[in-house]
Parts: sequence; C-alpha cells; structure tokens
Amino acid sequence: MPDSRPIGVFDSGVGGLTVLHECLVTMPYEDFVYLGDHARLPYGPRSRDEVRRFAHEIGVYLERQGVKMVVVACNTATSVALPDLQEQLGVPVVSVIVPEAHAAVQATRNRRIGLLATELTVASGRYESLVRTLDAGVRFTAVACPKLVPLIEAGDTYSDEIVAAVREYAAPLKDAGCDTVILGCTHYPLLRPVFQRTFGRDVTLVFSADETAREVAETLARKGFENDTTREGRYRFLTTGDPSVFRTLGERFLQLPLGDVERVEVRELEAVA
Ligand code: DGL
Repeated sequence: MPDSRPIGVFDSGVGGLTVLHECLVTMPYEDFVYLGDHARLPYGPRSRDEVRRFAHEIGVYLERQGVKMVVVACNTATSVALPDLQEQLGVPVVSVIVPEAHAAVQATRNRRIGLLATELTVASGRYESLVRTLDAGVRFTAVACPKLVPLIEAGDTYSDEIVAAVREYAAPLKDAGCDTVILGCTHYPLLRPVFQRTFGRDVTLVFSADETAREVAETLARKGFENDTTREGRYRFLTTGDPSVFRTLGERFLQLPLGDVERVEVRELEAVA
C-alpha cells in the first residue's frame, strides 16, 4: 500500500529550498509541505533555547499536518535541536550536518577542514565533535558568517557586498590551509560560485542537499513509507512572513514553479506546542 502522507521540510527562510530542490528531483512522486519561519529569521544570532523552541513548535505543527517524516533543512536548528526533536516527534526526523561531516572527512587530503556557518551553529560545536569522532587528527577551523543569511534573504547572491563578506569569512580558512570547507548553512549553496572563486579550484566545498535527499529516499524505502512511485507529487509552501516576498525569492532559488504560498501566524505555531 503506497503511503500518501506528505513529507514536512522546514528552515528559518528560503535556504532549505536548496534541500527541497534535491528532494523534489530525487523523489518526484512524493508530496511535500515546506515551512519557512521568515517572521523569526535569522536563527543564527538567537539563543539555543529560542531555536530549540521554534524547532519544537514547527515539528509538532508539521506532525499535526499529517506528515510521515520531518526534514530539518536548517543547520542551525539541527545543531541545537535535533536530539530533542527526535524524542518529541512520533515520525522520523532527518537532518543536515552528519552527511556533511562525513563527506568532509572523506574528502580532505591534508586533514584541515574549515566550516562556514551561522553563529549558533559554530557555537554549538556540533560539526567539530562529529568530525573528530570520525578523525581525531583533523585540524578544524570554524568561522561564523552573520552577514550572509540576511543578504541572501534580501535576494542578493553576487553583489560587491556579498563578495566582500565571503572574502572576509574565507580568509581565516585560507590562512589555516584548509583544503576542504563545509558550507554549513542551507542558505550558502546559493553562493556557491562566489565561494568557489574565492577559495580557488583546489578547495573542495561540501554541502549536503543531495545527500540529505538520498537519506530521505532511503529511509522512506526501508521503512515502507514510499508513495506510489509512478505518480507525480505535489508540494506546497507555508511561511510565517510575507507570502509574496517568499514567492518571488523562492521561485528563483527552488528553480521550479512555486505555486501558492500560504501564511501561518507565529501564534498558531506557538499554540500547538
Ligand atoms: N538556513 C539556516 C541554516 O542552515 C539559516 C539560519 C539562520 O536563519 O540564521 O543554518
């Protein structure tokens, strides 16, 4: 019996669309519901407790929408809230971070790995501990990039300001001789060309959208949760912010038609938790 329930995906904003994009092309037969918490973006400068609470509210909200799995398409929420969410929700929770740490350890040749991420992701130390679990001999350098998410959410992916910010954040990783750099925020793949030019072609950039999508697909298959693979799935979008702003930016970043975007009030999220 095909499982027709949708898959829930969330992020603070449009960054998680990089993950959703991969899910939509890997599993065209599944239905998805994506929630962007634009009213409370950015998560990066917030406290752990706040982001844990937001992740909990959204996870419970999505579960009540009848999803069969929750994909945390936000490194910041993953780094502080994943174990809590997995305990609190009755459905499987798949997230970013672990595939990236794994891929980075496999890719590095000089065992110097860099991380670019939000303030809270860097402060959580989650990547560093995962990388060290896999290879305790790696030299790890992490840099928080507070300017990037607000610029990307304003639709900026290649202005002089973005290029200058990327150069500033890349400099300590270049000084440390990192040959592998984790783009540890789902917004950052949208700046991939700028990062690759700044680091040069010998540096491997690691991000996890495709591996996360693969993990979602494998988990569904193993648990027997797949929909009918001959159908074409649907997807819909929810935002706590302005739906028209989301629609314009989202279509550009998703690279697929977006359709309707519905608004969810923050108080509706607060009420379910
Ligand atoms: N896309 C989120 C992440 O992966 C952005 C966090 C933010 O809102 O600052 O970390």
